[in-house]
Amino acid sequence: VLVQRFSGDTGRPLLDGTNDRAGVLDRIVQARADAYAECHATLDTSVMTQAQLLAAIDALVKARPLAMPLGTRTYPIHVGRGTLAERSARELDRLHASSVVVVSDENVRTYARAATERSKRRAIDVTLTPGEANKTLAAVETIWNAALDARVDRGALVLAVGGGVVGDLAGFAAATLLRGVAFGQIPTSLLAMVDASVGGKTGFDRAQGKNLVGAFHQPSFVIVDLDALATLPERELVSGLAEVVKSAWLTGEEDVRALEVDASALRARDGAALERAVRRSIATKIAIVAEDEHELGVRAHLNLGHTLGHAFEAASGYARTHGESVALGLVAAMRIGVALGDARAEDRDRMARLLATLGLPVDVDGALAETRVASFLASDKKRVDGTVRFVVPGRPGAVRMEKLETARIMALARV
Ligand SMILES: NC(=O)c1ccc[n+]([C@@H]2O[C@H](COP(=O)([O-])OP(=O)(O)OC[C@H]3O[C@@H](n4cnc5c(N)ncnc54)[C@H](O)[C@@H]3O)[C@@H](O)[C@H]2O)c1
Ligand SMILES: [Zn+2]
Repeated sequence: VLVQRFSGDTGRPLLDGTNDRAGVLDRIVQARADAYAECHATLDTSVMTQAQLLAAIDALVKARPLAMPLGTRTYPIHVGRGTLAERSARELDRLHASSVVVVSDENVRTYARAATERSKRRAIDVTLTPGEANKTLAAVETIWNAALDARVDRGALVLAVGGGVVGDLAGFAAATLLRGVAFGQIPTSLLAMVDASVGGKTGFDRAQGKNLVGAFHQPSFVIVDLDALATLPERELVSGLAEVVKSAWLTGEEDVRALEVDASALRARDGAALERAVRRSIATKIAIVAEDEHELGVRAHLNLGHTLGHAFEAASGYARTHGESVALGLVAAMRIGVALGDARAEDRDRMARLLATLGLPVDVDGALAETRVASFLASDKKRVDGTVRFVVPGRPGAVRMEKLETARIMALARV
């Protein structure tokens, strides 16, 4: 088509002076394949009038599509309400999945059913026992076995429908099954929507610690249906909001302000407010992962509030949720930011006020007083020679990394 269209054209610097126009065009298209693959949507203009085309573009812009731009591995992240069943069927068709291994847990089976009810593809259901305690190799084996017993081939797709535990397990099973099959994410917890489902980290826990064995394996799509949050227990919803706050602080003033405005609507599970918060958090995660997929640099910023957060979580014997622990970790990190001159006292107080309004704990003194926090901090998996690369927060949008000794972290957080 291109050769025909350009025949007789001159003044095309890339094509003038060659007899092999088809070859040159071929190489140009090849070289640009990565960039073309990152576009959010494709419209077939040959079958549209100009008016139809304008309407289609308008509809696309209004749908505000999100995508993770990773060259030919680019994938869409659909955010909507009441869209799960239809979106899922469309994605499974687009990818021509030969069969679908649907992984969920006992609390989210209705969503797993909805994910394949409109699709004609063969579904193999795997229902896991809920909870972080079950994020084990045994659960991965359950998925492997169900898929292998059903004799799936390499065209199969593993579909995670659930919270971050289901997503991490299903993702790892997909990365390893038959040396890697396609993978789709339908997150149903707020934490999984804004964090775990996007970015391709998968894995499971070992006795030595959380997430110690895993693989990078990007999904082929993510479908976020905010209606799923209707059944999420209150404590889980509030916990997810801690990651939303973290994400907003990484991004900047506009996102933090938006959360402050929406705080009570979020607590009341207002659909529009949740959609705004989820979209902003995902956009932040996309920007960071697109720049640093394998966490060699800026992706480590996502650990804001997590160094002390993980220690608070472990020290409570996991009685605190991850999100509650991160909330405490964020306030403690702000104290350190103030002590190091990055943040002002008013930034620290603003962070604590926002978290408290959202229903999260902020009593850092109480948490720091717990006996085991220092020893858990000293055994942080990202520690090297007694120091941790700590994410030091300043004002919204300003964070940096600094190597700090764990004893110094404790001392600075106690001020
Ligand atoms: N891969 C990543 O990048 C990444 C990032 C952050 C966290 N994680 C992982 O995510 C996990 C935490 O995720 P989580 O908080 O979603 O935990 P989870 O998967 O355990 O879900 C929390 C609880 O809510 C239930 N649930 C989920 N959605 C529900 C719904 N719509 N209605 C009713 N109940 C529902 C689950 O069954 C579970 O009991 C951790 O294991 C963490 O390591 C991974
Ligand atoms: Zn987290």
